[in-house]
Amino acid sequence: MNTDELKSIFLQRFGNEGVVYTSPGRVNLIGEHTDYNGGYVFPGAIDKGIYACIRLNGTDKVRACSIDKENDYREFGLNEEDCPNIHWAKYIFGVCREIQKRGYKLQGFDTVFYGNVPIGAGMSSSAALESTYAFALNELLNLGIDKFELARIGQATEHNYVGVKCGIMDQFASLFGKEGHLMRLNCATMEFEYFPFNPKGYKVVLLDTVVKHELASSAYNRRRESCENACAHIAKKHPEVKYLSDATMTMLDEVKNEISAEDYMRAEYVIGEKQRVLDVCDALEKGDYETVGDRMYGTHYGMSKLYEVSCEELDYLNDIAKQCGVTGSRVMGGGFGGCTINLVKEELYDKFIATAKEKFAAKFGHEPKVYDVVISNGARRL
Ligand code: GLA
Repeated sequence: MNTDELKSIFLQRFGNEGVVYTSPGRVNLIGEHTDYNGGYVFPGAIDKGIYACIRLNGTDKVRACSIDKENDYREFGLNEEDCPNIHWAKYIFGVCREIQKRGYKLQGFDTVFYGNVPIGAGMSSSAALESTYAFALNELLNLGIDKFELARIGQATEHNYVGVKCGIMDQFASLFGKEGHLMRLNCATMEFEYFPFNPKGYKVVLLDTVVKHELASSAYNRRRESCENACAHIAKKHPEVKYLSDATMTMLDEVKNEISAEDYMRAEYVIGEKQRVLDVCDALEKGDYETVGDRMYGTHYGMSKLYEVSCEELDYLNDIAKQCGVTGSRVMGGGFGGCTINLVKEELYDKFIATAKEKFAAKFGHEPKVYDVVISNGARRL
């Protein structure tokens, strides 16, 4: 599928021409489960996204078609009671509602869309979908909403219409992405910096387990509650601590007996992850990829053993990476399946991919999928 094909599908269905918008998925080099804890994340947008053709239709109805869901077609109004009962359409409806909740006037529109972000792989296909529509509607209706608020609109869609109490990283990355650059975002202040990312002699590759375990969204929400609980206990003694990422290990130890062992482990991971992101940014500026990789393995260990969002398949891929001498490797995104992100020397790449495919398939019955990472631009009109 390309933009012209998308436009012609739109024309056939609605009898008019629409404009095409896109917003990408993301990778995250390091800084996981830190966004909703007021910490740092270090994502970049990728060359895979959602593509939507769209045109205002002069009514108060949305008429939407998902090409990837066998052209499933839905019509819905813009009021709260009009919520469609199909998963994909809730993202579009949620974005419309969240725009209106902020006091902006919306109109109905016609749209068809497709995506090439692998779903369930931890590359944020849902944020890409939200960001595409938030960005497009803002531009088509001249609403004048800034990109930070567009990101919050996508995040609120997850919270209120999908049920995932996510942080801001994915929507931020999808909207602010810049070719060849990662972004270090401070999620407490929303200050961010672009870092050129072109590790000479290395490749960044994702290995997708193609599995999604348990009810990832409820497990995700439980992690968030643990962090908020640990933070609330610390804040009683240290009122300057607003987010868990503001806390130190000494502070956490002061409340060790007041919180569950589980909440303690979750918090220990989050506090450690803050330093790892800062270390990686420093190391990148010096071209010290060994340290970058070391911290990535550190994150994997923490996500697996303390935060407990890894799984057998991801741990296995991480072990293979270690055995193959890969510089850095870790589970990426929310966890419970999806991808590992790997920083690998070019000369080791072929051997690593071949070994990972063979060993993984022997153990789990299917090969992991392989995606080379290309850091690309964020939301835009095509
Ligand atoms: C998901 C969420 C993000 C973030 C990551 C983990 O992708 O949507 O907000 O919390 O998990 O870092």
